[in-house]
Amino acid sequence: MGEEEDNLNKMNKIVIAIDGFSSTGKSTIAKQLAKQLNYIYVDTGAMYRAVTYFALDNNLIGEGFFHSEKLIDKLDDIHITFKFNEALGFAEVYLNGKNIEKAIRTLKVSSYVSPIATISEVRQKLVEQQQLMGKDKGIVMDGRDIGTVVFPNAELKVFMTASAETRAQRRYKELLERGHNLSYDEVLENVTTRDRIDSTREDSPLVKAEDAIEIDNSNLTIEEQLETLLKFAKTKV
Ligand code: DC
Repeated sequence: MGEEEDNLNKMNKIVIAIDGFSSTGKSTIAKQLAKQLNYIYVDTGAMYRAVTYFALDNNLIGEGFFHSEKLIDKLDDIHITFKFNEALGFAEVYLNGKNIEKAIRTLKVSSYVSPIATISEVRQKLVEQQQLMGKDKGIVMDGRDIGTVVFPNAELKVFMTASAETRAQRRYKELLERGHNLSYDEVLENVTTRDRIDSTREDSPLVKAEDAIEIDNSNLTIEEQLETLLKFAKTKV
């Protein structure tokens, strides 16, 4: 591809940053949006979960302990990749060549991921990789700091919210459907604790970017959200 054609291609494509609290349904909507626009979808939460999985697997974090310095020393041993799964219609996450897409969705990983995500060295490593993935645009990325830190110049920024109870209910249903045995209260506790840690951490706290469009989806269907976002995306292309 010539340089001019390459530039033209980039001109039509945009970066869409979707941030928000946990379990706001960001990934569901981001995946569908990417599919409609023929864009790449990247779930950055999966990357923080992959580091957490590594830390748990190597006994660097657990009940009452966190050897953060040791984790920082081992960061070069962590290789996170995504591979598109045709049958599922999205890219699954791999840690050092092993598919961990399902293993990172447990309540155990959820309850240790926020402390892991406070470590600046972890964030730096993952943000660098995320910026590389979006360098050619045509990407929908969801997370907590996408519109503020990863892509501050993203053409479209969305900030998703919903009440903690609505989110806990959704996550609870999802976990039950996957066969996990736990109570609604445990899930609500995890959701509110993560909100607090994610919004108050020193490095890249979860905040709405000034130029982000805020969508409270407590009472919106997926189709309604998708329609709204597609409309916004089309005005930016
Ligand atoms: O989106 P998720 O629930 O899978 O994200 C898991 C955790 O990862 C979340 O509680 C905070 C952290 N995270 C982050 O700090 N920055 C991101 N861009 C994405 C996730």
